[in-house]
Amino acid sequence: METIWIKEEELEKATQLLLEGEVVTFPTETVYGLGADATNEEAVKKIYKAKGRPADNPLIIHVSSIEQAYEYAEEIPKAAQKIMEAFWPGPCTIVLKKKGPIAQTVTAGLGTVGIRMPNHPIALQLIKDTGKPLAAPSANSSGKPSPTSAQHVYRDLNGKIAGIVEGGETGVGLESTVLDLSNPKSPTILRPGGISRNEIEAIIGPVKFNTGLTNQSDTPVAPGMKYTHYSPTEPVIIISEKGIGWEKAIKKYQLDGEVVGILASQETIKQFGTKETVSFSLGEKSDVVLASKRLFKGLRFFEETEATVILAEPFNKSGIGEAYMNRLEKAAAYSVI
Ligand code: TXA
Ligand code: MG
Repeated sequence: METIWIKEEELEKATQLLLEGEVVTFPTETVYGLGADATNEEAVKKIYKAKGRPADNPLIIHVSSIEQAYEYAEEIPKAAQKIMEAFWPGPCTIVLKKKGPIAQTVTAGLGTVGIRMPNHPIALQLIKDTGKPLAAPSANSSGKPSPTSAQHVYRDLNGKIAGIVEGGETGVGLESTVLDLSNPKSPTILRPGGISRNEIEAIIGPVKFNTGLTNQSDTPVAPGMKYTHYSPTEPVIIISEKGIGWEKAIKKYQLDGEVVGILASQETIKQFGTKETVSFSLGEKSDVVLASKRLFKGLRFFEETEATVILAEPFNKSGIGEAYMNRLEKAAAYSVI
């Protein structure tokens, strides 16, 4: 299939493809999404096929207003109303009991559906112009870091999708927070993201945090959590502040014959980077918002370089730092020295 590039001024081309049941990627404020009409079963199947996404990992749907969310949720508890008013449009996905004509494949057979209103003019325009809720996972091949630019999408999905809407680099850089309110008695964050736990608790009070499996036989609440994620071609290792430290770690991998990539703050790169290392700066150590915006771009950067291993810097877990560490730990498959 030929994948066409679509400029913001030609958005009607994207609208038309979506209405014909094709798959088109578009920017949101978090990462690029791989969109299809959520009410069209055949169109949604094309998303799974293009990404190589396991069939039991449900998609979220994107709406352009709070009212539109009411068409697809059986029940909107008070807490969900408050979250929508506080954070929509924005990077918070709410899981609710589903209703209405959403394709079965979107929710992978679950009785719930994840809904969010993205804060990006292109995404909102497409939802309005098609008049449809758009199912859209991150527009990467399954297992790869999520795309924060149209070029990332192109590298993963060229020839597998109908179109790519260009919209520059995304702002937040990490995906939305997934908040399960399908049981209003126990609000639970299933994936940390663009809206922090503190911001959510300030609106609806204490929430649980359940982003992993407690034991092997458990069915995960967000099915996506059990799969490999965010992995570039090279292995990623987190350099803990309590571990052997940057200098020793770099030497150790170089002695093993590796070319070391450093994914870190500018301070760390300045102190430990050498002619033999390849580095990508995440910005100042004090700025976890910028580090989050750059993380996925950085992970993908090393694929174009000589680096054979990526040593990465942890950031403070406060605010969006919780999401930053969640993605980095998954990219590293929890490998820390
Ligand atoms: O920022 C984002 O959320 C981006 C942009 C494109 O909107 N989208 C995104 O979608 O990250 P995706 O499919 O890559 O991640 C959605 C996550 C997955 O972990 C999935 O398992 C979970 O949400 N999820 C979706 N529907 C669910 C449901 N009904 N119950 C529990 N978890 C659900
Ligand atoms: Mg994803």
